[in-house]
Amino acid sequence: MKPIAMRPGIYWVGAVDWDRRLFDALIPLPDGTSYNAYLVKGSEKTALLDTVEPSMQHQLLAHLEHLQIGCIDYVVSHHAEQDHTGCIPTVLEKYPLAKVVCTPRAKGMLNDLVRVTEDRIVTVNDKETISLGDRTLEFIHAPWVHWPETMFSYLKEERVLFTCDLFGSHLAASDLYVKDEGQAYEAAKRYYAEIMMPFRSNIHTHLERLKGYPIDIIATSHGPAYDKPDFILKAYHNWVFDPPRNIVVLPYVTMHGSTRLMVEHFVSALAERGVTVQQFDLVATDIGKLAISLVDAATIVIGTPTFLVGPHPAIASAAALANLVRPKVKFLSVIGSYGWGSKAVEQLTGMLSNIKAEVLPPVIVRGLPREADYKALDNLADTIAHKHKENGFT
Ligand code: FEO
Repeated sequence: MKPIAMRPGIYWVGAVDWDRRLFDALIPLPDGTSYNAYLVKGSEKTALLDTVEPSMQHQLLAHLEHLQIGCIDYVVSHHAEQDHTGCIPTVLEKYPLAKVVCTPRAKGMLNDLVRVTEDRIVTVNDKETISLGDRTLEFIHAPWVHWPETMFSYLKEERVLFTCDLFGSHLAASDLYVKDEGQAYEAAKRYYAEIMMPFRSNIHTHLERLKGYPIDIIATSHGPAYDKPDFILKAYHNWVFDPPRNIVVLPYVTMHGSTRLMVEHFVSALAERGVTVQQFDLVATDIGKLAISLVDAATIVIGTPTFLVGPHPAIASAAALANLVRPKVKFLSVIGSYGWGSKAVEQLTGMLSNIKAEVLPPVIVRGLPREADYKALDNLADTIAHKHKENGFT
């Protein structure tokens, strides 16, 4: 792809990674991703905002060559993670006068992670500005979305907010701006669920701060930019501020069918009581879909057989993920089965210690479920429906 002009003298110079299917050796990328870098030319100075994943370095350099950029004065590093900073050393070598602009916290991290030396770094305080001549960049410190050193840049004259990972999406696209809002919403929600959700109280603070800035464009470091910023601001507002909904998320695994019988009965019982269920067989599930479902759910019920006394390893893995992303669920329970003994409930609840949810009575059966076990599942469904109603979850 060629550079894309956002405004005269402002260009997208990033890389689209259409074929990448895994991030952090964990997160599925069904729609690929992009690493967005932007070039801002002022009447006196030129700034490059972030770089790209090192494997895509050739694309960034080709953009700079295409635009015949002979001098870069500033390389703004919003966030030290290598998918945005990995090419900074090459850019500094190619542009020997360039200085990296970052938060004080990022300074040491840039040295640790990509070996940028102190003499090439200028740190900026919150709300500090740098003039490019006829254009001004204001830096807004935004720690813990999702790392501690993060900041945004606000291009005052053009009302463009560069937010790095915040508001981003893993979505490869040839368009600069979001075209398909349905697709963009799902991709952004997936990104929020996997990366940002544990930091929602900090995001809450930043969303409030951003109300003081008139914004025409939000340009992120992954996925298409937003030329209708209300779309993503409103979505984040809902995900961060709204109470959980009348939804049970039910990740499960079955080995010999007992847990499946319980899950089928339980899902039906919840549906009869007006509770929406999102059921995921973890053998076949895209864990990103599971993470998305956790954004709105009021309750998680985990269905597991017993595997060598504990929960099935696939369930343990999903529990570890849920514990890390810290959804706003209020209730938690476990259903499942065992052959000769089980500590699955104790182990699972221990694995979910970050989730501050009330643990509802589990239903664990030996072998195939009996009538009394189905009754216990009905009672659990009653309890959940009642708790959701009592709390006003709709
Ligand atoms: Fe896209 Fe946290 O790096």
